[in-house]
Order: sequence, then structure tokens, then C-alpha cells
Amino acid sequence: MSYNLLKGKRGIIFGALDENSIAWKTAERVHAEGGKFVLTNAPIAMRMGQIDALAKKTGSEIVPADATSEEDLENLVAKATEILGGKLDFVLHSIGMSVNVRKGRHYTDEKYDFTAKGWDVSALSFHKVMQTLYKADAMNEWGSIVALTYMAAQRTFPDYNDMADNKAYLESVARSFGYFYGKEKKVRVNTISQSPTPTTAGQGVKGFDGFISYAEKMSPLGNASAQDCADYTVSLFSDLTKKVTMQNLFHDGGFSNTGVSQEVIEYFSK
Ligand SMILES: NC(=O)c1ccc[n+]([C@@H]2O[C@H](COP(=O)([O-])OP(=O)(O)OC[C@H]3O[C@@H](n4cnc5c(N)ncnc54)[C@H](O)[C@@H]3O)[C@@H](O)[C@H]2O)c1
Repeated sequence: MSYNLLKGKRGIIFGALDENSIAWKTAERVHAEGGKFVLTNAPIAMRMGQIDALAKKTGSEIVPADATSEEDLENLVAKATEILGGKLDFVLHSIGMSVNVRKGRHYTDEKYDFTAKGWDVSALSFHKVMQTLYKADAMNEWGSIVALTYMAAQRTFPDYNDMADNKAYLESVARSFGYFYGKEKKVRVNTISQSPTPTTAGQGVKGFDGFISYAEKMSPLGNASAQDCADYTVSLFSDLTKKVTMQNLFHDGGFSNTGVSQEVIEYFSK
């Protein structure tokens, strides 16, 4: 179903790697709602992923950018506004990667250059994206910027490793930048705290299969899928949520406010 919620709106979508990616589903949904966008990802992901197919499907152009490179981001913002023919209304930051997780380093045995790299990619990149947009004055008034996060920023999930710290930083950047972006340019900035989702990044976390089943049983509405997340993101890009800013918004079927569910009690009562 389409409501034309994003008709006439332009934006940039970071992080579509393959059809499981949250950014991929969001791009399809934004397209269905009439939004136009430029797709971007790290040059290495271009070679590994299937972003060309998504570009074709949605009539979009691709501009590669490493989200840790200020130069790449400046080029991306300049090209995107040129290609789309004006300032932007929405930006999705859907980027995450921990080198410690990838290399199997435990949280109590971090290699700090890995930590720094993961932080740059997963957290500081959000500041870099917004600072680039801000300095170029590339966002329209009442535009909307969304980044994806996870509840490990508030509560401990042992296998989430240093991504927990990266997400805490990311959520703080949304509040801090959201203040200035709101004051100066009436742009809103929020993070969506999404359920565990079977994507390349998600499945990189140790014990993911057990954890996603646990979360499913703990959430009154069940886990939110990537498709559900795409729908929620569209609502935040639309004009129907103009006064929502500087928030971390849980999109998790109720998991974050559930102490224990009947299913979990029954499992342990056996
Ligand atoms: N999958 C989950 O369980 C889950 C839950 C909550 C939040 N999230 C968050 O959702 C977001 C999207 O992840 P996903 O689950 O769709 O996985 P994904 O692997 O499909 O997407 C991660 C993306 O980050 C990109 N990326 C990595 N390094 C980059 C760089 N230097 N520059 C630009 N892009 C880079 C990758 O190429 C990839 O497209 C991430 O922020 C992730 O932490 C995921």
C-alpha cells in the first residue's frame, strides 16, 4: 500500500548492501511512497553487494562514499543535490561494523585500533554525515535525519561487544546535533532502536540465532522486521512527525519495556 507520504521529497540512503539490509527495505519503501534518493555505500561494499539491482529497481543513482571520509561525504552531498535537483528532505544512516566483533576479540580483550576503527565507522560517521550536510546547508527546513541503533546502548548484551559503546555514542550525537540542527535549520534528528534483524551486520553478532528467538518470545508484538523498520522510518521522513526530534525511538515489538513474558516463564518452569 502507498500513501504518497514522500511525494516530492529527496534524500540520501546509506547502507544498502543486499536485500536483507534495513536500508534496502527502506529504499524500496521510500520509492513506493514517491521519494527520490541517491544510494550510497562504502566502495568495498559496492563490489561485494548487489546495490546496482536496487538502483535499477528504484530509478536511483549510486554515489560511493566511505562514511568515515570527510572528502567522500562532501563529494556525496554535492553530487546528490545536483542529481536530485535541490536540497534534501531526508537522510538514512544505516551503517555499522565492529572490527573486534569481526576478528572475534572479546570485550575484555579489545584491540584498540580495532575499537577506534569500529567507532569511526559506526558512531562518529553519523556526526561526520550531519556536519557535512550542515556546512553545505544541504537540508530543507523540516527535513528528517534517522540513524539505526540497538538497545545494547542502554542495557548489556554480552555478545554485542564494543558495538554497545558505539551505539551509546551514536544516540548521544543524535541528541547533541539534533539541538543545533533544530535551532538553526528546523531539521529533526532521531535514532530508531530496532529489534534484532537477520542481516549481514546482525548475523555477525555471536549467538544471534538464540538471541533473536529469545527476543521474539519476549516481545508482546514479536520482533520488528526490516520491513517494519522501513515503514517506521518512512513515517519519520514524512511531514506527519515534524515535532519529533532528539529521540531514541524503540521499535522492538515492546521488548524494551517487558520484564519477562509468559513464554519465558514457562520455558524455565519445565
Ligand atoms: N541487524 C540487526 O540486528 C540490527 C539491530 C539494531 C540496529 N541495527 C543497525 O542497523 C544498521 C544497518 O545494519 P543492517 O542490519 O541492515 O546490516 P547490513 O550489513 O546490511 O548494513 C550495514 C551497512 O554498513 C555499511 N558500511 C560499513 N562500513 C561502512 C563505511 N565505512 N562507509 C559506509 N558504509 C559502511 C555496509 O556496507 C552495509 O551496507 C546498522 O547501524 C546496525 O547496527 C541492526
